[in-house]
Amino acid sequence: MKLLGRIAIAAWVAWGCDGKQARQSAELLTGGDIARGRAAIRLRGCGSCHEIPGIPGANGLVGPALDRFAERIYIAGQLLNQPENLMTWIQTPHTIEPKTVMPETGVTGDEAKDIAAFLYTLRK
Ligand code: HEC
Repeated sequence: MKLLGRIAIAAWVAWGCDGKQARQSAELLTGGDIARGRAAIRLRGCGSCHEIPGIPGANGLVGPALDRFAERIYIAGQLLNQPENLMTWIQTPHTIEPKTVMPETGVTGDEAKDIAAFLYTLRK
């Protein structure tokens, strides 16, 4: 899955130039739903710590801005940016980085897929 995920991301970045294709690929890659992801990000308060394009009020400065997240190579400087790693980070950041200030916010498995789908729409 690791290699497959990387290939999928690379193919998607190269191919998904138009918005609709990019949205479809983000959902295919993650099994999540972008609209639900947007709602989950607001519900879980991610925007209190992150600037997130397309999320009203998401202008926090505690964590890094998540603009163009789909184009990042690494997650939190620790994990390759691929769907399963992203979902793990979103749900349980302390299993990756014990001292991170990013909290476990109670995100469910389905919400993690949805949020990942949304984050993978963020590109130039
Ligand atoms: C209390 C503040 C806080 C909250 C709330 C928070 N985060 Fe974070 N987040 C951080 C910090 C700080 C980092 C940087 C961690 C690191 O690099 O070690 C981070 C890193 C990340 C990263 C990796 C960014 C990168 O550039 O590699 C993602 C993706 C992310 N958070 C998504 C989320 C999502 C989605 C939520 C809501 C479910 C959320 N965060 C809630 C503080 C927060």
